[in-house]
Amino acid sequence: MPADLDTKLITRNFGNEEARKLAGYEKLGGYQTLRKALRMKPEDIVEEVKKSNLRGRGGAGFPTGIKWNFLPKQRTATHLVCNADESEPGTCKDRLLIYWDPHLLIEGMVISAHAIGATHNYIYIRGEMMREYQVLQKAIDEAYQRGYLGSDVLGSGFRCELTVHRGAGAYICGEETALLNSLEGLRGQPRIKPPFPAVKGLFGKPTIVNNVETLMNIPHIIDKGGAWYAELGVGRSGGTRIVCVSGHVEKPGVYELPLTITFNQLIDDICGGVWKGRKVKAVIPGGTSMPPLSADELDVPVEFDALMTDERIGPVKVYKNHNWQDFDMGGGRQLRTMAGSGGIVVMDDETDIPKACWRIMKFYHHESCGQCTPCREGTGWLEKVCRRVAFGRGKAGDVELLSTIAHGIAGNTICPLGEAAAWPMLGFITKFRSDFEAKIPDPTDDLETEKPAAAGATAS
Ligand SMILES: Cc1cc2nc3c(=O)[nH]c(=O)nc-3n(C[C@H](O)[C@H](O)[C@H](O)COP(=O)(O)O)c2cc1C
Ligand code: SF4
Repeated sequence: MPADLDTKLITRNFGNEEARKLAGYEKLGGYQTLRKALRMKPEDIVEEVKKSNLRGRGGAGFPTGIKWNFLPKQRTATHLVCNADESEPGTCKDRLLIYWDPHLLIEGMVISAHAIGATHNYIYIRGEMMREYQVLQKAIDEAYQRGYLGSDVLGSGFRCELTVHRGAGAYICGEETALLNSLEGLRGQPRIKPPFPAVKGLFGKPTIVNNVETLMNIPHIIDKGGAWYAELGVGRSGGTRIVCVSGHVEKPGVYELPLTITFNQLIDDICGGVWKGRKVKAVIPGGTSMPPLSADELDVPVEFDALMTDERIGPVKVYKNHNWQDFDMGGGRQLRTMAGSGGIVVMDDETDIPKACWRIMKFYHHESCGQCTPCREGTGWLEKVCRRVAFGRGKAGDVELLSTIAHGIAGNTICPLGEAAAWPMLGFITKFRSDFEAKIPDPTDDLETEKPAAAGATAS
């Protein structure tokens, strides 16, 4: 049966103080699925996860079972790493999941570790999340005491150690290979892929990196079966989806919802509509690295594939190989965006889009690790040009310049942080081009030098 608004899998213990303690969690049936999983063959668990159509909730929506299958058949050691870095602007679900249901995460990790044969595993948590770190560490200590973790989990002979590691506040350490470097004590910079972590990851060993929300779905899948979980969803995406809604709505918050709910329904029925009686202008669908949707594109479900395959947006023009060409991101991504990390930012019709876009570019410029030139230099130029447009000092051709810079970054970097800046930039100037042009004092005046600030404009 497809999920409805009452289907709560991983938020069902939100608000329940008892569930955060081991005794309370056990009273609610906690760790029973682990007992079941320990009686199952590891390959059968992987099979159920494949059947479930669980898609990774860290950003890319990659099918979890398929990722687990990438592990080499012959391996001497394997690691499971939970990505709890949660730094994508607009995203704030993992911290709540950890805070309210730490044992569900631990249970999900031990089951997953058993499935892939991982004995020493890690949770990499964002350094600023001190409260969640303490909750998690306490829960891990409890789990060790009760034999859910340790050298012989529940007498099964399976060894599962779990270590929490706090990051130090770098957004890039959420990228899985930068995270692994950071865990190893190296500088938190992304590695060139391939090899992918599943082949050569932590300390050179095959490693699976999964997001908090992804791993918390595992006990439900093993409890009720992969087919049941797949049926809750739609198409190639199983289960429910957690979205974190912020911005100009009456009731922002973190909601677990059916994947079939559209952005319009989400804003109007769940979030009480756009605030102050205004209308929606733009929506960022999955964290700020995802290009925005415009008001007429919101009848699309929050499901992963829907956001990539809608065909209502035409191709954009970019300057490439000394010519203006149609630009297509490929893969049939006509709507040119993705469900990402579930961080949904709603912007009302009084939003200054160029300023909002500049603020986003400032973030990516600041967070670029500096390893590759297109990202290091390009994000700086995106911020600079976007800022001068946003503050009324833009020059003729600046919109095309932004497009060209973004195009020079996308596809030319070691990790996707480059695209995380380039794609939203392209999305904003394609869908809200007139907002940018309206800020350029004289779009026909092709001066070489920067203009002084227009009267009344705020310098940044
Ligand atoms: C710049 C950047 C930042 C990222 N930050 C996070 C993060 O904070 N949390 C997360 O789970 N994934 C993040 N990811 C995605 C991870 O690299 C990885 O794909 C993910 O943790 C895999 O988990 P999943 O398969 O369960 O989605 C980030 C990716 C990039 C490129
Ligand atoms: S794309 Fe940016 S963040 Fe990623 S490795 Fe290159 S410089 Fe670093």
